[in-house]
Amino acid sequence: MTEPNLDIIKETLVALARQAGEVMKEKSGKTSFDDKANAVDLVTEIDKAVEELVHNALTVAFPEYKFLGEESYVPGESELTDEPTFILDPIDGTTNFIHSYPSYCISLGFALNKKPTVGVVYNPVTNQLFSAIKGKGAYLNGTQKLPLTAPRPLKLQSALLAIEWGSDRTGNNFKVKTDTFKSLAADSKDGGAFAHGFRSAGSAALNISYAAAGYIDAYWEGGCWAWDVCAGWIILEEAGGIMAGGNKGEWHPAVDSRLYFAVRGAEPAEQKKFVEDFWGHIQGTLDYKV
Ligand code: IPD
Ligand code: CA
Repeated sequence: MTEPNLDIIKETLVALARQAGEVMKEKSGKTSFDDKANAVDLVTEIDKAVEELVHNALTVAFPEYKFLGEESYVPGESELTDEPTFILDPIDGTTNFIHSYPSYCISLGFALNKKPTVGVVYNPVTNQLFSAIKGKGAYLNGTQKLPLTAPRPLKLQSALLAIEWGSDRTGNNFKVKTDTFKSLAADSKDGGAFAHGFRSAGSAALNISYAAAGYIDAYWEGGCWAWDVCAGWIILEEAGGIMAGGNKGEWHPAVDSRLYFAVRGAEPAEQKKFVEDFWGHIQGTLDYKV
């Protein structure tokens, strides 16, 4: 197999993201939805239509590469391998899409040896397109190099953090998450991190892209999937950020590990201390099934 041409791959993904974005914008808030794992894990016909559109186009353009997409994923059958693979979430932020809340995107990644290598994340409502190629930097709308913000200290107490409630609202994982949220938010006189604030874009790919841009300091989540994080991951790394694990001690998580902690660019020693300080507030161990 010839070496993948990453520039051509990125350009193709950008064109597809913009095409899919038109469909998403037109249909947001106007489509019925179904449940998947439970009553808050949702899918619409547009998620499926966008995945089909992108999958078909990629099959024509790059027939030699594999494809992993949220809506066609079959557990145990379509797992990620070392082969060059497109990884797609047709709509990341489906709940927002259903509610016409303007925070959803298409997340298109390309992985080599299971490592995120090209990423495109596009929110058609705000017209923000984040993209990156390994070794070539990360950009907003093709021209603004990430991060966009001026350098500032990375400290847990002064951090703006993205967290998500996810669709799994029972048992150990829900308890670990909610207890951790409390420990991060609480006043330091009660032992909390007393972080500046918490945000939820409702989309893993947008949260990670916002960390890459420097809008937020970090994003912690357990329970999402390779298609939620692959594209954002390379955008984050190319902007100087790091992806650590969602549980304590995991510095090099796999793209399909379901446990992530995305931290914005800063000095490596600052990033290390920040991650360790954050892990110190995790109340237990997340145990999502891979
Ligand atoms: C979800 C979003 C959400 C995250 C969930 C994901 P979906 O993806 O990224 O922010 O908390 O874990 O499943 O369902 O909108 O594609
Ligand atoms: Ca999705």
